[in-house]
Amino acid sequence: MSEPLLPIPSRELPVSARAPGKCIVFGEHAIVHGAPELVFAIDLYTQVFVRPAAVTRLNGDAEATRRNPYFASALARAWDSGAPVEVRAVSRIPRAAGLGSSAAFAAALAAAFGAARGGVDRPTLARTSFEIERGAQGVGSPGDTTAVVGGGYLAINGGEGEPLWTVPGGYHEWRVRRVPDPGWVWVVAHSGIPRSTADAVRAVGRRLSAPDGPALLAEFARVARDGIRAVGAGDRRSVAELIRRNHELLRDAGVSHPRLEALIEAAAPASEAAKLTGAGAGGSIVVLPIPGREAELVRRLARAGGLPFVVRPVGGAELVDAPTE
Ligand code: PMV
Repeated sequence: MSEPLLPIPSRELPVSARAPGKCIVFGEHAIVHGAPELVFAIDLYTQVFVRPAAVTRLNGDAEATRRNPYFASALARAWDSGAPVEVRAVSRIPRAAGLGSSAAFAAALAAAFGAARGGVDRPTLARTSFEIERGAQGVGSPGDTTAVVGGGYLAINGGEGEPLWTVPGGYHEWRVRRVPDPGWVWVVAHSGIPRSTADAVRAVGRRLSAPDGPALLAEFARVARDGIRAVGAGDRRSVAELIRRNHELLRDAGVSHPRLEALIEAAAPASEAAKLTGAGAGGSIVVLPIPGREAELVRRLARAGGLPFVVRPVGGAELVDAPTE
């Protein structure tokens, strides 16, 4: 894994950058309300190519400057030169799947623009990527954008030691800490059901304002805190138990879905534990496989109608060689 704190160096246009997707192991939704989260960057990428042009376009579409909220937000927040650019973006991360496609697009673009503006350090890149995503989405935490900028395993609002950086935002300052990598392989699977993160976040917000909401939030926070410790210590048995508990809480919060439950059931014979990952209400699950049975797990998930990927933690957003044309 590359060193997470290396800045994005200065580069003249054309510039190409990529950012990975992410997988939340513990604490989605609760993080929006200040609870801890554990997230890692996964080896599925979005890559962007940026070059000077007469008219600003995204994948050939000049309307994208108005119609694509993430592109519009990135231009407004990370490209203050205003010079027209042609952007091409390609991605292996399924969209609206809870695997970080929008964070990866925001961070890859912010990294490319940052390089062209003289380079950018990682805390700034993380903050800018969050502003881009928040500007487009309206709600949410900096968990996803932090994960795809920092790479590896990260605890937000939790963990131990000096923060790598902090992200200001609303009522809360988010502290980001490195969590030791236990060296595990994970499997994620997309249900094929797209959903809106913003709608799911608002629904959970309403659920947490019920009389038992504070107790539910406190249990989310406990599970994430214990989970961060257990992953850092490589304690697989505790991690499996906490993953199952976290999924029960997410079910209680109202963001599971029959297709996610079916995928979790299909995974069971080859998995130690599974839960939904990301906003839920569709989207994806993450599975801690029984070691050595990853291929069987992938077959089971595909047979049950999921789109599975074996994933490992990788480094964060980075520049890549621009194509020569
Ligand atoms: O499904 P995604 O990738 O949009 O994940 C969102 C995670 C949430 O905690 C639900 C929202 C957030 O911004 O943290």
